[in-house]
Amino acid sequence: MQASVTESPVPTATTSSLEKNRRFINAYWLRPENAFWMVLRSNALSRVPMRAPSIDLSCGDGVFSFLHAGGRFDPSFDVFEAVRDLERANTEHADVFDHVDDDYQPPIAREPDWRMDCGTDVKPSLLAKASRLGFYDRLLRQDHNERLPFENDAFQTVYCNATYWVSEVDAFLREIGRITAPGGTIVLQVKLDAIKQFTFEKHREVLGDHWLHLMGRGRLETWPGLCDRRSWERHFAAAGLDVQRADAFVTGTHAHVWDIGLRPIAPMLIKTMNSIHAHLRKEIKRDWVDLFCDLLAPFCKADLDLFTEPSEPVEMQYELTPRR
Ligand SMILES: C[S@@+](CC[C@H](N)C(=O)[O-])C[C@H]1O[C@@H](n2cnc3c(N)ncnc32)[C@H](O)[C@@H]1O
Repeated sequence: MQASVTESPVPTATTSSLEKNRRFINAYWLRPENAFWMVLRSNALSRVPMRAPSIDLSCGDGVFSFLHAGGRFDPSFDVFEAVRDLERANTEHADVFDHVDDDYQPPIAREPDWRMDCGTDVKPSLLAKASRLGFYDRLLRQDHNERLPFENDAFQTVYCNATYWVSEVDAFLREIGRITAPGGTIVLQVKLDAIKQFTFEKHREVLGDHWLHLMGRGRLETWPGLCDRRSWERHFAAAGLDVQRADAFVTGTHAHVWDIGLRPIAPMLIKTMNSIHAHLRKEIKRDWVDLFCDLLAPFCKADLDLFTEPSEPVEMQYELTPRR
């Protein structure tokens, strides 16, 4: 049965929302299409208080949650500066962020308003990066296809924006329910397979395999749990999780723009920007960030949809409680 849902009101642009857009665009500037997606996630998440103890499952390098919590980096910092092995990315479609240097230390201009008690991820290098933010009390390497190493009822708030990366999704959801305290909140941001309607996949016959390979860089293959809204809700019910609220916050227009994005040329852009003098990089970055703050402002709104017919949402935020 489809759960009843509440669609979120759309925030209007305020000085604080523009400042927030800038913080995200500054960190993710060379992938503007990811920057606006992160803002959409953070805006949706803002309606949920992160009551302690809280956990960020699949926290990655922690930059998203740090920014979401109101943290600010010096403008010189971004997630691309620490990227090294770009050749592997070209040949193997490897995760270029899966690496950390001993001296990695993001310059923090403002501490976040609150801290996260715990973060987990399967990649040790990302956890090492997250640890340098001083934002998580505890970080643990954990594959979410396996049992989570926490007591029953351990957390008041459980957040995850990477559920669809896990193949054993039912077992993972049951574990999430187990570690959530009675009265606690689970917030899952999940992609929907409607996203495929907004890629060039449906034009494979015309564009060919090679073209789609260049454009896609293996993205969809990293999301084994991708499914439609009804299937997510069936997974939740089967895991004993009750839907308290569901918000659609990414439209087909967002997905279409994201699909084109700068993905194919990102390795060259990163290499260029990491090869030039720091002074010049800073200058280019400043102009780039200014431009994209304006260009992306409409796309940082959850209801932006330029198609004539309303499109299916491609990402949802679910607030869930464990059934006891
Ligand atoms: C798109 S990233 C999101 C990271 C972070 N939450 C953020 O918003 O920046 C997906 C994350 O899921 C992690 N991941 C993928 N498979 C995983 C698994 N089986 N167990 C735990 N983490 C996993 C990846 O290492 C990566 O950090």
